[in-house]
Amino acid sequence: MEAQKKIDKSTSAVVIYPPSSFSKKALIDSLEKYSFLYKESIENPELFWGKAAQEIEWFRSWEKVSNGRFIDSQWFCGGSLNVAFNCLDRHLKGDRRNKRAIIWEGENGECLSYTYEELAKEVAIVANVLKRHGVRKSDTVVIYMPLIPQAIITMLACARIGAIHNVVFAGFSAKALLERIQDSEASIVVTADGGFRRGKIIPLKARVDEAASMSSQIKKVLVYKRVGCSIQMIPGRDYWMEEELQKVEEHCEPIALDSEHPLFILYTSGTTGKPKGIVHSSAGYLVQVALSTKMIFDLKEKDLYWCTADIGWITGHSYVVYGPLANGASIFIYEGAPDYPSVDRFWRLIDAHKITIFYTSPTAIRAFIKWGTSWIENYDLSSLRLLGSVGEPINPEVWLWFYRHVGKERCPIVDTWWQTETGSILISALPGATPMKPGSATLPFFGILPDVVDEKGQSLPPGRNGFLVIKRPWPSLLRGIHKDETSFKKIYFSRIPGVYFTGDGAYKDEEGYFWITGRIDDVINVSGHRIGSAEVESALVSHPAVAEAAVVGIPDSTKGEAILGFVTLKEGYLPSTELSEALKDHVVKEIGSLARPKEIRFLDTLPKTRSGKIVRRLLKEISLEGRITGDTTTLEDSQFIDKIAKAKNDFP
Ligand code: PRX
Repeated sequence: MEAQKKIDKSTSAVVIYPPSSFSKKALIDSLEKYSFLYKESIENPELFWGKAAQEIEWFRSWEKVSNGRFIDSQWFCGGSLNVAFNCLDRHLKGDRRNKRAIIWEGENGECLSYTYEELAKEVAIVANVLKRHGVRKSDTVVIYMPLIPQAIITMLACARIGAIHNVVFAGFSAKALLERIQDSEASIVVTADGGFRRGKIIPLKARVDEAASMSSQIKKVLVYKRVGCSIQMIPGRDYWMEEELQKVEEHCEPIALDSEHPLFILYTSGTTGKPKGIVHSSAGYLVQVALSTKMIFDLKEKDLYWCTADIGWITGHSYVVYGPLANGASIFIYEGAPDYPSVDRFWRLIDAHKITIFYTSPTAIRAFIKWGTSWIENYDLSSLRLLGSVGEPINPEVWLWFYRHVGKERCPIVDTWWQTETGSILISALPGATPMKPGSATLPFFGILPDVVDEKGQSLPPGRNGFLVIKRPWPSLLRGIHKDETSFKKIYFSRIPGVYFTGDGAYKDEEGYFWITGRIDDVINVSGHRIGSAEVESALVSHPAVAEAAVVGIPDSTKGEAILGFVTLKEGYLPSTELSEALKDHVVKEIGSLARPKEIRFLDTLPKTRSGKIVRRLLKEISLEGRITGDTTTLEDSQFIDKIAKAKNDFP
C-alpha cells in the first residue's frame, strides 16, 4: 500500500470556470457563496442540517439534529416521517400533481410516462399487494428487476409500508442473488419474467427459480410481465403481479416511521469473500440525498434529469429514485444498453426527450470516445445544460472530451465522489460556483469534512498521496453492515481511529481540491462497480480444476479496471485455452457477467508470505511492470519471482 507517493501536480493546471450564463441562474452562483455556506455548515452543523431537514415533510418533528459519533450515529432524533410520502404525496398538492415524474424508454423503443399523481396511485396499489402477501413493517423485500418503472414503484411501495428493500442488480447470477436473499433474511422476491439487454432476454424469473431450488427460504415470488417469455409458475409460491394488482384497493396510508428506521439494505463488495449488506436510514438519508440532488444538479422545476445508473446500485437509489423524486423532479430512465441497436442510442435519447441533465460514468464516456465523435454529430444536444460523472476516477482527457463533444463547452461537469456507504455525494463541484479541474472531484459538499492522512491519521500536505478519510459524521452515513457489527467497526472505524476510512487513496492540491487515485484495498473497480478480489477468488476455487486462485485489478482503457486471475490447478488438470474460458464462464455463473475475468493465467504456485497469505501486490506488479520493486523478503518461496517471470500461457 503506498500512502505517500509524491504526485506531479502539473495535472491540476487546467482550470475551467462555470459558464457565466449557467452561474447567473444557479442556486449557488459563486465560489465565495459556496465558501461562505461551507464554512457555516462546518462551524454550525446542527443549524445547517436542521435547516436542510425543513425541506422535507415530517409526521412528527425531530427533537435533536444528531446524536452519537460514527458507529452509533443518529440523525433527526425523535422525528417520524415516510420517505415515499415525501417523494410522492407531498407533490400532489400543487402543480406537480400533473408533472411527469418518470419518463421511461424501453430497449425496443416503447415509451411510458407517469405523472406524480399516477405514480402515487401505482405505488399505493403495489404497497397493498405486498401487504396482502404478508409483508409487514421491517420485513425485507428483495427486488430483482430490469430497469422499468415498476422497479421504482416497488421500491417506493416498500418505503410506504416500512418494509426494507434489498435491490439486487439484474446482472447478478442466481447464486449471487441467493446469497443476498439469504443474508438479508428475505422470504419474498419481486421480479419480472425477464428483461431486455442488447436485444436478448435476461431470464430473471428462471434465475429466481434456480436460487429458490437451492434454499427453502423463498416463500413468495411476485412476477411482473415484461418480455412475455415462457416461464414456470409454481402455484402457491409464484404470482403474476398484474393479477394481484386487480385484487387490492387504490388507497394505502403511508405509515409514520422513526427517523432511524432502515429504508434499505444494499449489498456491495468489500475485501472479504462475502458481500456486505449496507444499511441506510430513512430521515438522514432522505435529507441529504434531497439536498445534494438539489444543489449539485442545480435542479430546476423544468429539468428532465437522466442518471444512467441501474437501480441495482447506490447511484440508482440515491440519484435516480430518492433524491430527484424528493425534489419533485422529472426523471428519465432507459432500460437497455448504450450500444443498442447502435452506439448512438444515448444521443438519440437525449435529443428525442430533450434531456437537460445527464449523469453517467467514466466507463460509458470512454466507450463513447472509442465509438467516435461522428456518432454524436447527427443529434441536437442543445437541451443539455449540466453533465455529471460518477463511480471511478475520470481521466482528465476523458473529462475534456465529455466537456467539448457532449457539453459543447456550455455545460459544467460535476465529478461526484461518494460510495454505497456514504449514501450521498460527499465531494463534488457545485456547477454554478466551483471552478472545475478535469480529473478532480473538486471540493467537499456542505457539512462534509474530508482529509488526506497517513497511516497514523496525520493530515498530509498538498501533493502527498494518502488515505481519504472523513472526519465528521453526516446524515446519510451507513448505519451498519447487516448482521455484522464487527466488520462495520473494523472496516470503517478502526484503522484510523476517530474518522471514517473510505478505502480510497487521494491527494489534495494547493487549493484544497481532492484528487481521488482509486481503491487502496483489494477491491477492483470494473466499470464503476466494486468487485472484491476475494469474491472472484472464491468463485474460481469452487471450480473442480482449481486448487488456488489470486485475482488482481489491472488498468483497462474502457472499464477503468479489468480482472486478471491467477490460478494453480489440481492434479490431473492441464492449462488450456478451453479451461481458461471455462473458468471465466464459471465466474459469470457464480457472480454475474460483471465479474468475468479478462484473462486467466496458470501458475505452478502463488506467491505467499510465510504465514500463508497470498501476496496479490506482487502479482499485480509483475503483470503491470514485468518486475518487482517492493519487499519480497517475507515470501515463502524465494524462487517465485523467477518462476512467474518465466510463466507464459503458451499452452496448446
Ligand atoms: O473508489 C471510489 C470510486 O467508487 C468507490 C465507491 O463505489 P460504490 O460504493 O460502488 O459507489 C459507486 C457510486 C457512488 C469509491 O470508493 N468512486 C466513486 N466515485 C468516484 C470514485 N472514484 C473517483 N472519482 C469519483 N467521482
